[in-house]
Amino acid sequence: MAVTESSVVAPPPGWGRRIPRDEKLFFIVIVMTTVLMTAFAVGWVVWSDHNVPRTTAHTTPAEYSARVQAFTKRYADDQGRAWVPPGTDAYMLATRYSWYPELVVQSGKEVMIWISSGDVLHGFSLVGGGQNLNLEIAPNHAFGVRLTPDAPGRYRIICNEYCGLGHQTMASYLTVVSAEEMAKHVAGAGTAAGGTGTTAGGAAAGALQLTADASGKLAYDVTELAADAGAVTITMTNPSPLPHNIAIKGNGVDAKGPIVLKDGTSTVTADLKPGTYTFYCSVPGHEAAGMKGTLVVK
Ligand code: CUA
Repeated sequence: MAVTESSVVAPPPGWGRRIPRDEKLFFIVIVMTTVLMTAFAVGWVVWSDHNVPRTTAHTTPAEYSARVQAFTKRYADDQGRAWVPPGTDAYMLATRYSWYPELVVQSGKEVMIWISSGDVLHGFSLVGGGQNLNLEIAPNHAFGVRLTPDAPGRYRIICNEYCGLGHQTMASYLTVVSAEEMAKHVAGAGTAAGGTGTTAGGAAAGALQLTADASGKLAYDVTELAADAGAVTITMTNPSPLPHNIAIKGNGVDAKGPIVLKDGTSTVTADLKPGTYTFYCSVPGHEAAGMKGTLVVK
């Protein structure tokens, strides 16, 4: 049996016996830095106020959309802007390519704004008014953000997550008003509440009907409509969880019905002369994606 000799060279005598002073110092510095950085990282999360003050909850697009619908119905003015009285949670739905509804909140009052997505991942970005918020908005999760706007104004909301061809059009505003303005609006809405019921249009003769695509495709069920000259009314039913409306444009006409969510109806009426018009959804990006058609008036 042959003896196999090791090829490893033995260390020189005295090697590794003592750690030199500079290496010891280096080691101590490394350990101290590690401890300090770890403590700093943890402390930054716990004590710093840069954290986004958010809470999350599970939801579904259908359930969340119903919530936004109820909220908007209750607080929206005739331009579709929801005035959020202090102490009330606000609900906003992100869908390609809109933030719905536009919110009006009171300056100096903390407000909880819930946001969820009805389709794909969006990025909620709000800058201004002492805020600099960036949140990822995913479907099936509601993100609640507590914020206290500190100055009246109109602050831009944009989407900072690429979500499709109309991504760059996905913008809105957060409007911050003074306590007086909010009180005035709430008082005004209270007295007008009895009279603001939609004038039950009761299917006027020649009224046109259409339906938005139920599966969430950006389209109506028809692409062509015809009407006689005069007052033309189009009513759209929205069976999808996405916000849609019906609007008419062309030949100097520009009329828009209210934006509605699931099971809502949007009605637009315009006085039309003979000619060719476009009916479309005015939610940003929807017309460009194909939610439109031709209206021929004879
Ligand atoms: Cu939504 Cu980009």
